[in-house]
Amino acid sequence: MVGFFDSGIGGRCVLDAFLRICPDEPTVYLADTEHCPYGNRPSEEVVRLSRRMVERLIARGCEVVVVACNTATAAAIDTLRSEWPSIPFVGMEPAVKPAAISSKTGVVGVLATRGTFGGRLYRTTSARVSGGVRFIECVADEFVSFVERGETSGIRVEAAVRKRLEPLLDAGADRIVLGCTHFPHLRPVMEKVAAGRAEIVDPSDAVARRIRDVLQEVRSCASK
Ligand code: DGL
Repeated sequence: MVGFFDSGIGGRCVLDAFLRICPDEPTVYLADTEHCPYGNRPSEEVVRLSRRMVERLIARGCEVVVVACNTATAAAIDTLRSEWPSIPFVGMEPAVKPAAISSKTGVVGVLATRGTFGGRLYRTTSARVSGGVRFIECVADEFVSFVERGETSGIRVEAAVRKRLEPLLDAGADRIVLGCTHFPHLRPVMEKVAAGRAEIVDPSDAVARRIRDVLQEVRSCASK
């Protein structure tokens, strides 16, 4: 069984991507809506909250845990791996590398939370791939609130998306990286706003394939 958690319903996009390729796999999804959002919380607090989610998933019998939250991955995945060495963890990371490689303008917009931008994972990856590519970082916390309210389309959402995306597009960004698992829920609106100017880069499918591979590894080790 595969366990997923996020601060809220955002990480469902990763669960949905996984179920598209492994429809028969049993899964559990936990949303920590009581403490959502995680984005501006101190990293020690995100570690503490993530630990509680993992305890609950393991108690339910999960053999693989997906940290379906970029903020929790940034703050907690190293700690979780060291505290549960026998559990494989799959985390989220903004897809800056594929975006940088495919960008023609050399300008990439990245949407994420403050916590994700402050994390070592994002800092080291973006520094490593940045040769010649400019990353423009944008915190869009209000997108998280829209998604948690179930408001993923309409005039208010489109205005909010325009407000965040237009400055990135005007600066020449031709790739917009979704570095928060809540944001793919607004993807149709983003695609409308960015049409003809930028592609939206969503790592959900790549992470889903990684989960499937990890699960196969776990099972093949167990059967040896
Ligand atoms: N879904 C979380 C992420 O991927 C962020 C939402 C929040 O701030 O809690 O970073």
